[in-house]
Order: sequence, then structure tokens, then C-alpha cells
Amino acid sequence: MERITRADDRVHRPAGPWTPTVHRLLEHAHGQGFVGVPEPISLGDTLETVSFVPGTAGDYPWNQDIASEAALVTTARMLRHYHDAAQDYPRSDADVWSQAERAPVETIVHGDFAPYNCVYDGIAAVGIIDFDTAHPGPRVWDVASAVYRFAPFTTGLVEGGSASLEHRLGRAAEFCRAYGLDARSRSVLVETMVSSLVALVTTIETEAAAGDPKFVSDLRHGHVELYRADVAFIEEHADAIAAAVA
Ligand SMILES: Nc1ncnc2c1ncn2[C@@H]1O[C@H](COP(=O)(O)OP(=O)(O)O)[C@@H](O)[C@H]1O
Ligand SMILES: [Mg+2]
Repeated sequence: MERITRADDRVHRPAGPWTPTVHRLLEHAHGQGFVGVPEPISLGDTLETVSFVPGTAGDYPWNQDIASEAALVTTARMLRHYHDAAQDYPRSDADVWSQAERAPVETIVHGDFAPYNCVYDGIAAVGIIDFDTAHPGPRVWDVASAVYRFAPFTTGLVEGGSASLEHRLGRAAEFCRAYGLDARSRSVLVETMVSSLVALVTTIETEAAAGDPKFVSDLRHGHVELYRADVAFIEEHADAIAAAVA
């Protein structure tokens, strides 16, 4: 059976110890008027049911709309609105997150903010899905992940992966501008990109060793090697990236 199934306007996904907390977060976002996230419908022992967010997920290969500058800008604005909506999430002792809290806590970050977890209506970013890795943390955690994926600063054979460095630097700067990222966050963006890739490698290796099929598949598909190569790429161009987003 597929891990994730859709029936009409509902999506059934595996649930974890963090799912009740994620449902409270999603309810909170809706209550704040941020409706571009799934609405929690029910929670069983092993499965959660949430609403389907209408649109097209930004899975690879990207279509022309998702590769556009307009999609980059609307994605950045959407992330800003989500972070603003999540920043007054009423935290409680009952909260369980899948990831450790990261300082400075400014909001509840998504934790895997990437095109494949965004939903588009043409060039307009309209939704964010897959909140399993959400946790309290700094806004730049998600912005760094977004810049890595959308510039993109990868050696992988994805869209934009063959674009000139100059073009990618321009997209990184445009994302930060459209988000309205503050100076402190900009100053740590490159190191945060590296930390988040290193964290991803650790997660894949740990969870694959524990038998999680999603991460076993990531490992088999060479994701760890790719992320390590990308860390080297980002470190090689660290000064140029830092200057572009300053
Ligand atoms: N609530 C949702 N609304 C719209 N599409 C969804 C939703 N949940 C999942 N999907 C689709 O299923 C794919 C995988 O789901 P996702 O929640 O991202 O899980 P994972 O990345 O862990 O496989 C997404 O890329 C998207 O295409
Ligand atoms: Mg996903």
C-alpha cells in the first residue's frame, strides 16, 4: 500500500507521536487566516486524515510555472505569511515535535520547506503541506532550506541546476527580498544552509538504519552523497552567496 493516499478532498498519511501537535499547529494557522495548509480531519492510531490542498505540488521535474521568478516571489511571500501566522502558536507542555527545538525560537518552522512541499496554482504559491518536521525555531531555518532548493544551490540534475551561478545568486537574493528577511538572519543564511543539509544527512542515516522505508529509499537513491556534494558546493561559493543575500 502507498504510504500516502488520497480520496477526493482528503489525504491519509502515516501518523507519529508529533501528529496531535502538528494538528494543533495547522488549526492555529487556519485560525490566523492562513488557509494554505491542510486542515486536520481525524487522527487514528497509525493514520492521520487531513484536507487535500488544491493545486499542483512542486515535485520534480518542475513545470515552467514553478520554475518562474513569479513562483519564487510568491513562495517567499507565502512562507513569510505562514511564519507570521505560526509565530503566536500557543505552545504547551503537551507539544511533541519530531525535531529538537532550535534557537532562537521565532516561530514554528516547517522543517522541510521545499518546492515538493509547496502547492501551486499556476505561478502562484497557494499552499504548504507535509508538516511532520515542524518545530520551534528561527525563520532563517526555513528560508535557508528554501534558498537551497529554489536558487538552487545544488549539484543535482534538477531544474536550475545547470543555470549560471550568477542567475542562482540573483534568485537567492530575490527570495530573501520577497520574504523580507532581516539582517541578522541574512548574516547566518549560508551557515544555516550547511547546518540544515548536515542535519538532513543525519536524519536520513539514522532513520534508514531504524528501518523507516522513506529514508531507506532516500539513502538508496543517493540523497546522502548528493547533500554532501552540495555542502561542498555551498562552502566553495560561501562568500559569493553571503554577498548576494547581504
Ligand atoms: N494535504 C495535501 N494536499 C495536497 N497534496 C498532498 C497533500 N498531502 C500530500 N499530498 C501529495 O502527496 C505527496 C507526498 O505527500 P507529503 O505529505 O509531502 O509526504 P512525504 O513527502 O512524506 O512523502 C505530495 O508531494 C503531494 O503531491
Ligand atoms: Mg513531502
